[in-house]
Formats: sequence, C-alpha cells, structure tokens
Amino acid sequence: MKDIVIPIAITLICSAAIAVSYSKLDVKGRPGVHTCQGECYDDWVVAEADRQAKLSAEQAAASPEELGAKTYTAVCQACHGDKGQGVVGPALVGRDHDYVMEALTAYKNNQTRGQQSALMWGQAATLSAADMENVTAFILTL
Ligand code: HEC
Repeated sequence: MKDIVIPIAITLICSAAIAVSYSKLDVKGRPGVHTCQGECYDDWVVAEADRQAKLSAEQAAASPEELGAKTYTAVCQACHGDKGQGVVGPALVGRDHDYVMEALTAYKNNQTRGQQSALMWGQAATLSAADMENVTAFILTL
C-alpha cells in the first residue's frame, strides 16, 4: 500500500504546483490569455509601435559613445575587459581612433593581424560601419 501512496502523493503535489504556476502565467485582465488575437493583437500592435518609436528616439538622441558602450559591454567586454585592460584579447585602452578602426576593418575582412585573429573575425563580422565608429568612440573613453 505504502508503495503506491507515495507516488500518488508526489503526482498530486506536482500537478497542483504546475496548475498554480500555469495560472500565474496568465496576462492579467485578459480573458483569452494564451492567445493574442483581435483586440489583444490590435493593442499589442499599438503598444509595439509606441515602444519602437521610443527606442528610435532614444537611439537618435544617444551619443556615439553611449551606443558604443552597449555594444562593448554586450560583445567585447568579456575578452577585452570592462576597462579595456585586456583579458583573452589584448588591452585596448590607450589605443587611438585610427588604430582601433583599422584593426576592426581588417578583422571584418578576415585579415590576419596577430596569431589569434580568427577570434576577432566573427566579432567584427557582426558590426556595421556605424557600429565600429560607435564602439571605437567608446573605447577611446576607457
Ligand atoms: C572571443 C574573445 C573576443 C571578443 C568577444 C572580442 N575580441 Fe577583440 N580581440 C580578441 C583577440 C584574441 C585579439 C587578438 C587578435 C589577433 O591576434 O590578431 C583581439 C584583437 C582586437 C583588436 C586589436 C588589438 C591590437 O592591439 O591589435 C581590437 C581593436 C579589438 N579586438 C576590438 C574588439 C571589439 C571592438 C570587440 C567587440 C565588438 C571585440 N574586440 C570582441 C578577442 C576578442
């Protein structure tokens, strides 16, 4: 008897836990919470347009250094350090604008500069010309 009571109890407890957490996933104040159609979708389109407009306004207002800081912290920092002091990659602090731009352009063109250039090819490939200018502007502030 004991052999069956414990598995049943565990199953019941788990089902209850799943039911409770699933109900908490609901979007408050919406009846058809697991789909977003009709009015819900229309509201979302308006809210999303608003969010996009705010985002573009923020981007337009942001300085190259601010935009570059985002790229740097998200992509470069892990290898070059939060102060550009170098970790896996070499230190960037103290380099001038042309040095950094030339290096990034070379990596974007899959050119070999040092022994570990291959590590930078994929990084530079994702950067547009504007991204490079912005991230360089930020590196100069380090
Ligand atoms: C996976 C780790 C890694 C990431 C992420 C990374 N780098 Fe690098 N970076 C390196 C390595 C390693 C080198 C040395 C490459 C070589 O030998 O040519 C390097 C070299 C450089 C150089 C040339 C430095 C010099 O002294 O010649 C610049 C500039 C640079 N990276 C900028 C960036 C920027 C900007 C980002 C973010 C978009 C970035 N790196 C992301 C690892 C990385």
